[in-house]
Amino acid sequence: MDPLLAVFSLVLLVISNHSPATAERLSSFSAADSPWLPAQHRILVSQNQTFAAGFHSPPSTSGRFIFAVWVQKSMDRTIVWSLGGDIVNSSALAISSLGVLSLNDSSGRNLWPTAGGASNSSQLVVHDDGSLVFGNWSSFASPTDTILANQTAPLNGNGTTLRSGNYQLVGAKSLVFNGTDNYWNATDIILNLTSDGQLVMENGNVLIAADKGNTVLRRLTLDPDGNFRIYSLDASSGRWQVVWQAVLELCTIHGTCGTNEICMPDGFNATKCVCPPGYQNSTRSNSCERKIKLSSPSKFLRLDFVSFDKGSNTADLTPLNLDDCRSTCANDASCIGFSYKFDGQQSCINHFNRFANGYWSPGSEMSTFLRVASSETDQSNFTMMTSLIDTVCPVQISLPFPPKESKTTLRNVAIISTLFALELLAGVLSFWAFLRRYSKYRDIAHTLGLEYMPGGGPKRFSYAELKAATNDFSNVVGHGGYGVVYKGELPDRRVIAVKRLKNIGGGEAEFWAEVTIIARMHHLNLVRLWGFCAEKEQRMLVYEYIPNGSLDKYLFSPSTGVDEGSGEDKIDDPTRELVPPRPLLDWNIRYRIALGVARAIAYLHEDCLEWVLHCDIKPENILLEEDFCPKVSDFGLSKLTNKKDKVTMSRIRGTRGYLAPEWVIQREPITAKADVYSFGVVLLEIVSGVRSSEFQRSSLESEDWYMPKWAFEKVYVEQRIEDILDRHIMDSYDNRAHFELVDRMLKTAMWCLQDRADMRPSMGKVTKMLEGTVEITEPGKPTIFTC
Ligand SMILES: *[C@@H]1O[C@H](CO)[C@@H](O)[C@H](O)[C@H]1NC(C)=O
Ligand SMILES: *[C@@H]1O[C@H](CO)[C@@H](O)[C@H](O)[C@H]1NC(C)=O
Ligand SMILES: *[C@@H]1O[C@H](CO)[C@@H](O)[C@H](O)[C@H]1NC(C)=O
Ligand SMILES: *[C@@H]1O[C@H](CO)[C@@H](O)[C@H](O)[C@H]1NC(C)=O
Ligand SMILES: *[C@@H]1O[C@H](CO)[C@@H](O)[C@H](O)[C@H]1NC(C)=O
Ligand SMILES: *[C@@H]1O[C@H](CO)[C@@H](O)[C@H](O)[C@H]1NC(C)=O
Ligand SMILES: *[C@@H]1O[C@H](CO)[C@@H](O)[C@H](O)[C@H]1NC(C)=O
Ligand SMILES: *[C@@H]1O[C@H](CO)[C@@H](O)[C@H](O)[C@H]1NC(C)=O
Ligand SMILES: *[C@@H]1O[C@H](CO)[C@@H](O)[C@H](O)[C@H]1NC(C)=O
Ligand SMILES: *[C@@H]1O[C@H](CO)[C@@H](O)[C@H](O)[C@H]1NC(C)=O
Ligand SMILES: *[C@@H]1O[C@H](CO)[C@@H](O)[C@H](O)[C@H]1NC(C)=O
Ligand SMILES: *[C@@H]1O[C@H](CO)[C@@H](O)[C@H](O)[C@H]1NC(C)=O
Repeated sequence: MDPLLAVFSLVLLVISNHSPATAERLSSFSAADSPWLPAQHRILVSQNQTFAAGFHSPPSTSGRFIFAVWVQKSMDRTIVWSLGGDIVNSSALAISSLGVLSLNDSSGRNLWPTAGGASNSSQLVVHDDGSLVFGNWSSFASPTDTILANQTAPLNGNGTTLRSGNYQLVGAKSLVFNGTDNYWNATDIILNLTSDGQLVMENGNVLIAADKGNTVLRRLTLDPDGNFRIYSLDASSGRWQVVWQAVLELCTIHGTCGTNEICMPDGFNATKCVCPPGYQNSTRSNSCERKIKLSSPSKFLRLDFVSFDKGSNTADLTPLNLDDCRSTCANDASCIGFSYKFDGQQSCINHFNRFANGYWSPGSEMSTFLRVASSETDQSNFTMMTSLIDTVCPVQISLPFPPKESKTTLRNVAIISTLFALELLAGVLSFWAFLRRYSKYRDIAHTLGLEYMPGGGPKRFSYAELKAATNDFSNVVGHGGYGVVYKGELPDRRVIAVKRLKNIGGGEAEFWAEVTIIARMHHLNLVRLWGFCAEKEQRMLVYEYIPNGSLDKYLFSPSTGVDEGSGEDKIDDPTRELVPPRPLLDWNIRYRIALGVARAIAYLHEDCLEWVLHCDIKPENILLEEDFCPKVSDFGLSKLTNKKDKVTMSRIRGTRGYLAPEWVIQREPITAKADVYSFGVVLLEIVSGVRSSEFQRSSLESEDWYMPKWAFEKVYVEQRIEDILDRHIMDSYDNRAHFELVDRMLKTAMWCLQDRADMRPSMGKVTKMLEGTVEITEPGKPTIFTC
């Protein structure tokens, strides 16, 4: 035997013998084994050793014990059930000769619930499904904070199903903080977790774990942070992985922060609590207090994207406008601030006494105006809404003149000026339409309950409704990877885009569950999902309609000389007049598009869960609003595709030219960094106005045929970024005004296009790079060309 191997096996032997061997292992506990004292190193194990039970002293509770069932195979011995109380080292678990199981607390009282059907020969056992059983009593009937697969959640009507600290699952449906403070509802009463990873609810609804299908050990736990998660055990590492969680935005969990505090995301999966401006840490823990006592002259500080709970300390008002809302608060001496929602619904909330459950979320359209003494010098540092709208969604569009060198300049000027005039006119008209809609808004929302996604999820449309809305699917506006897109109009005159999905497997309930998740992704730069249709074989998604079409039409349109998909087009090709030319996007708009898309993807990666990857970022999936505000589409759809197709899909998803090397190099895992790579390609295309695959095709002979590598040379070696810039708007490039923006876009692109996924920055970092809030160092040179 190899000596090293011998030493290794010896070490293994010692390790494997060490910890568990110190404990006596029972497969059942009977009267003959009584009493069982906490100090005894004894555990009760299930037949196949997956679960174990015994006394456990939680850290920080010295001298106190719980009797618990834990997962023996998990690294941290996760507790899945426990019996607490005042269990001390003189307590004892015992089965009497009459078959009564008892566990006495420090005062001698029996803590164990009485078990029916037990006799003097009954034994306490742990089954392989994790249940602790004595007679016909089972721990499964009284869960603590966890439900295991195969365990029916006891439906205590309106009672508490699970409990963890101050959080409870009530009636197998609602999560509440501090007894009654409700922050999340399941769509229906939760029945059980199946062994293949579905959370079954009443009426056939299901919630689906990300790894559904595999039979692994799973648990559904109400965590101490108030979130509700399904975990799967990775058998090889003994670690748990989150495969579903109820609340995506952790800050919306009540009780996360204290009185007057504002909760903010702190990286992925963590939160922090900060004081609003004008407030400071209070001597009482977890709360903030006003720095300067409120006196009669006061002013308001605006906090964008900050909402507070509409609890008992608030009044809901429907004023005419923001000023009206402000004066209701200003005229009430006890009002400490007001919130106003910029969604056209004129919702206005006045707050009294204290602010509760405050959080900042870029997905909300709410601003809160904090009343402070007029001598207060703190400035609001929650100013993102205006800056978001300013930088990402310009209200005014300025279009550059087309290239001078072209023979068709004059004609183009005419066309573009006309278009510009039309755009302006259309803008005015749509503004009028908006105003009209605005006043009717509340009625519409009432009758349809649509605009505002209720907790219950997106609206369900019937096939007939969508058939009527799209005029029998006659107006095709796009062909995406997931199906054909039709334009339509709802009876309330809202224009919609209906995506008719193909190759979607699974039942209606599964589809519904996935659609609900997509509908919850809510960001200024994501196309909004309004509803869906699932009837027999039909699967459709109903989105808001984005009028200006996709980015590729602007970057690679005939007016820029390169047509999509037909690179051989000559500038004077007569057929190109069939496609209306589009205005050229100027550098500011391009930068804002890049930033908006980066923010949307960062939101998908970091504010939602890790596995919400887009997987198909390309100019076709970036839609433009009337004011060229970008909206990313087709997100979340990879979750909808057939399970069967998924294995192969995972290799062919995405579009050639935008695929990260790891898509093609087998055995490399696909992570969020694959999206970062695709975004890098898009950034390069936004700057150059050339499709990267086109670039490669036209420069194959030259040494510089891989666009990222070529661009790297231009940026860092030759320092000639003007060679990369879209020649169609070169005339409007002003080195002083635009160098900064363009340079940042190019250098960020170089980081995104790194060969190795771990070298690429996260999307959150990419956003910061584009914003210019972090320094961009020199990256490595991209070299791997994939396809
Ligand atoms: C039980 O706990 C008490 C106080 O915590 C301690 O004095 C005593 O020695 C402990 N007994 C045993 C058997 O550990
Ligand atoms: C618990 O019961 C055991 C006998 O089963 C007894 O020896 C012990 O003193 C009791 N402990 C307390 C705290 O009552
Ligand atoms: C257990 O109970 C049965 C009757 O229910 C009795 O016949 C038997 O003797 C008891 N055994 C012991 C050990 O007490
Ligand atoms: C133990 O038994 C449970 C329930 O039958 C099963 O799900 C699990 O895979 C088993 N574990 C092992 C290691 O055999
Ligand atoms: C699930 O429960 C049934 C009885 O309710 C039992 O027969 C079966 O073995 C359990 N399955 C697992 C995996 O524990
Ligand atoms: C889970 O609930 C479903 C639906 O009520 C039921 O058919 C199934 O038997 C339940 N499974 C367990 C293990 O209770
Ligand atoms: C909650 O349960 C209690 C007792 O079970 C019952 O009296 C009460 O009416 C229930 N409340 C609701 C809202 O169902
Ligand atoms: C919990 O509720 C009670 C009243 O029901 C209240 O006094 C207490 O402040 C609440 N605790 C928190 C942390 O909100
Ligand atoms: C949960 O449901 C209850 C009753 O249906 C409702 O009053 C409450 O607003 C819901 N909570 C949330 C967070 O949607
Ligand atoms: C997030 O944090 C919770 C509680 O700290 C932890 O249980 C969970 O595993 C984390 N989730 C992920 C996806 O890392
Ligand atoms: C805003 O300023 C306050 C006080 O200056 C500070 O405590 C808080 O962390 C800041 N918040 C943010 C989001 O920067
Ligand atoms: C406020 O208190 C929190 C913890 O309670 C602490 O982390 C933070 O540093 C304090 N901030 C200030 C400005 O004192």
